[in-house]
Amino acid sequence: MHTGEQYHEFFLSSRRDLAVRDRFQKALLPLLAEKAELLDFGAGTGIDAKAYAARGHRTYVYEPSPSMRGYLQVHCRSEIAGGTVVEVGADLPCHVDAVTANFAVLNHIADHAPLFEQLYTVVRPGGFVLASMLNPYVLSDAKYGWWRKNLVNLFRHGAYSFDTESGIHRFAPHVLARAATPHFHLERLFPGGLGMLTAPYMFLLFRRG
Ligand SMILES: C[S@@+](CC[C@H](N)C(=O)[O-])C[C@H]1O[C@@H](n2cnc3c(N)ncnc32)[C@H](O)[C@@H]1O
Repeated sequence: MHTGEQYHEFFLSSRRDLAVRDRFQKALLPLLAEKAELLDFGAGTGIDAKAYAARGHRTYVYEPSPSMRGYLQVHCRSEIAGGTVVEVGADLPCHVDAVTANFAVLNHIADHAPLFEQLYTVVRPGGFVLASMLNPYVLSDAKYGWWRKNLVNLFRHGAYSFDTESGIHRFAPHVLARAATPHFHLERLFPGGLGMLTAPYMFLLFRRG
């Protein structure tokens, strides 16, 4: 079990994770109007929230883990004091232009339909949800027995779970698209083509109707 501070230091020292985070932010920022407001759902230690706030986007943060939240309060101390990063609870009392869920947050949730229903009340019309999720097709995982064992489940059910403390689930994109309907539709899934066999994370963009 990592503390928030350990998570923070690990993620900021891993070149691979920094590159994935950079790709996520580069995909997100051009989609935002000036001063657009965000909810970072599963915000962790606030690495993204601080970056969004620095670009003029007030960012609401929801983070259920007390340890992660504790370090978010350290990392984003001045933004919280200035009101550009705003902590919210599980009832998500905010209205925003976009919701982000970076680094596998949605892999912790078994059924996304209630979440998309809730996010429909949070995201303004025309807004979106951008999520990065573990890519269930990435071939670098083929070396693991659990990956090969679960291929049948992935193709038959579009999902499988690990019986571990972390409670991680893996999903085919169409399962998320179905859970989002009718509140959001899956507008974009990337990377496309061969990238879906090599990228550890897939990015999904859901547009609110
Ligand atoms: C790998 S971390 C990513 C944190 C952050 N988004 C980032 O980019 O560094 C996954 C996060 O999902 C959070 N999480 C787990 N279950 C969740 C849930 N049901 N709702 C919201 N967040 C959740 C965890 O507490 C953890 O902070």
